[in-house]
Amino acid sequence: MPETAKHLLLVDDEAALRQAIAERLADHGFVVEQASNGEDALARLADFAYDIIITDLRLPGVDGRAVLQAALDRYPEIIAIIITGFGTVKDAVNAIKQGAADFITKPFQFDALLHVVNSAFEQRRLRSENAYLRSQLEARYRIDGLIGRSRVMRDLFQLLETVAATSSTVLITGETGTGKELAARAIHHNSPRRNNRFVAINCSAIPETLLEAELFGHARGAFTGAIGTRQGRLEQAHKGTLFLDEVGTMSPALQAKLLRVLQEREFERVGDAHTIKIDVRIIAATHSDLAKMVAESTFREDLFYRLNVIPVQLPALRERREDVPLLVQHFLQKLGAEQVPPRSVTMSQDALRRLMAYAWPGNVRQLENVVERALAFSHGRTQIDVHDLGPEIQNLPANPEGTTTWFPDEGIDLERYMEGVELTLIKRSLERTQGNKVQAARLLNLKRTTLIEKLKRLERGTAVYAAANERSE
Ligand SMILES: Nc1ncnc2c1ncn2[C@@H]1O[C@H](COP(=O)(O)OP(=O)(O)OP(=O)(O)O)[C@@H](O)[C@H]1O
Ligand SMILES: [Mg+2]
Repeated sequence: MPETAKHLLLVDDEAALRQAIAERLADHGFVVEQASNGEDALARLADFAYDIIITDLRLPGVDGRAVLQAALDRYPEIIAIIITGFGTVKDAVNAIKQGAADFITKPFQFDALLHVVNSAFEQRRLRSENAYLRSQLEARYRIDGLIGRSRVMRDLFQLLETVAATSSTVLITGETGTGKELAARAIHHNSPRRNNRFVAINCSAIPETLLEAELFGHARGAFTGAIGTRQGRLEQAHKGTLFLDEVGTMSPALQAKLLRVLQEREFERVGDAHTIKIDVRIIAATHSDLAKMVAESTFREDLFYRLNVIPVQLPALRERREDVPLLVQHFLQKLGAEQVPPRSVTMSQDALRRLMAYAWPGNVRQLENVVERALAFSHGRTQIDVHDLGPEIQNLPANPEGTTTWFPDEGIDLERYMEGVELTLIKRSLERTQGNKVQAARLLNLKRTTLIEKLKRLERGTAVYAAANERSE
């Protein structure tokens, strides 16, 4: 069986006709399975991700409409072709509304059916191509869904584009919510594999015992509950991209099997001796430090090197605070448009300053949640203010001087900046101790006299600075 073949399910209760079509489709390179009634079709759909389903609308028992719905529910990307009887145009139209790609009326010539199938594939290809072109036009401060105008992000976009042109394995690292999955999708959508599938599997979300079968598929009866043969995610991603999320949580046994896939590009389904060759691009992601796990012997070193062919590191949001306004604008637009009725809302300067000063342990995902919450709390107003933000952000100092990693594009006056930080911290320690300088000095690990000297000098500096500013105005 060639792995490039398109898998097709043919559902019709007329045995002779079905058999004839199946044979001719097989001649054209399709891998065809047949079902003679709705129940059988549903059972097969539950087991296997077909590329195409061709079904008669009128079937004994479960009818074609129900089969079509089940197919589309389970595999939204499936190409569904409907066979209708003469004079049932209305049924055909309804099926198209339901999501079928096309229909053909009985009796028909085989070539007509083949044409319908091929043009459905062509349409789908053009659809994704157009979407791709649009995204190219809009690209400037974004690649796919990833947004950012900071230096690190623009460098990242360039790296992603370069990587997309290759088929090399990629290892994406970064804290939670930094956009690892978005980056993986961006690579796929900009790669020559974009017309084939992007299949994601989260290794930490699937119980260890099921992960192997999920990844590699299984044969009928391979284990209790394996009712039919099932194609794994790896096979589904053939010619496309497999995204292995949270790869650091894989068991040693599975790590060994994955290593083989990376080295040999082949594997077997669970409970099946037949070796399957595969052409797949692998993108792995993790928020853990794999190098450290290698040092601690919890992750295979050879696998780490096979995965880490091209490392892509996503920066934490606090390391690129200058992206916060752009992201806020993006989320306000997106979330505002989803409201009923749609709202156009802005963020006040004050609120934006607080958002830029915050440390964002949950990164962009957390920012999106905060914007969504603020939008809800701002009721009918057109501007979000500080009091609409969550308490963790509201309670931050208004000036970003306490945030030492923030580096504005235009650069900073380091000495003045550090004096500002010192003054802020000293004032805060005095607030905390109700002005008791001995206790405050202790909190700051300073001698009392040093604290007093510093305070005098800093306050004088600020006063001189303020006076100079006043004069120049
Ligand atoms: N640069 C970005 N531009 C726009 N949206 C982003 C960006 N980064 C992340 N997001 C949004 O933040 C959320 C989290 O992104 P994603 O799922 O890709 O993160 P992740 O790194 O995979 O997180 P986790 O480690 O928790 O799985 C998504 O809603 C995504 O749309
Ligand atoms: Mg993720």
